[in-house]
Amino acid sequence: MNLAVFASGNGSNFSAIVKAIKQGKIKARSVILVCDNPGAFVLKRAQKSKVKVILASRQDFSSRKDFEAAIIQRLKYYKIDLIALAGFMRMLSPDFVKKYPNRILNIHPSLLPAFKGSHAIKDAFENKVPFTGVTVHFVDEKMDHGRVILQEKVGIKVKDNLTSLEKRIHSKEHKLYPQAIKLFFSGKIKIGKS
Ligand code: GRF
Repeated sequence: MNLAVFASGNGSNFSAIVKAIKQGKIKARSVILVCDNPGAFVLKRAQKSKVKVILASRQDFSSRKDFEAAIIQRLKYYKIDLIALAGFMRMLSPDFVKKYPNRILNIHPSLLPAFKGSHAIKDAFENKVPFTGVTVHFVDEKMDHGRVILQEKVGIKVKDNLTSLEKRIHSKEHKLYPQAIKLFFSGKIKIGKS
């Protein structure tokens, strides 16, 4: 199976996935990075680990449709079987999602459906909930929505501050995402209605 990781920023999940592939924990034939941000740190990570990069900036295209068409063309060229969104800061259009039914995953730093959106860790922290967590799910046309594949709790300790909580959530993500991709590649996830 061929994997494409989509990321826009730091890329720590990208690195965790690449590490799991290199260690043989995920049996991917190939992996590529799709990035929409020329200034993203994840590009440096890809260069260091010799992963092929498709860089596509939205502003270089006159429409979202053209932008996505260019990406899809490259995905077809590399015969991509699975897309893993890992901090990709753009919603994919319903047309894009339909082209890869049950073949796009996302990781989100909360126990979905709680705390959707891009400030999930901060929102959980400020709401003083006793625990939050990490979710890996299939992507559908709605944001942070779609059938859950794996989900794990992360407790919020009284002595936590936002930074310490973020740190624990990210280290949970780095284990959970490779596990979910491994499950997908081993055919252990039943594809039904999401
Ligand atoms: C992660 O917290 C992920 O759950 C969210 O975006 C963040 C990306 O972090 N979707 P990184 O770029 O992988 O370090």
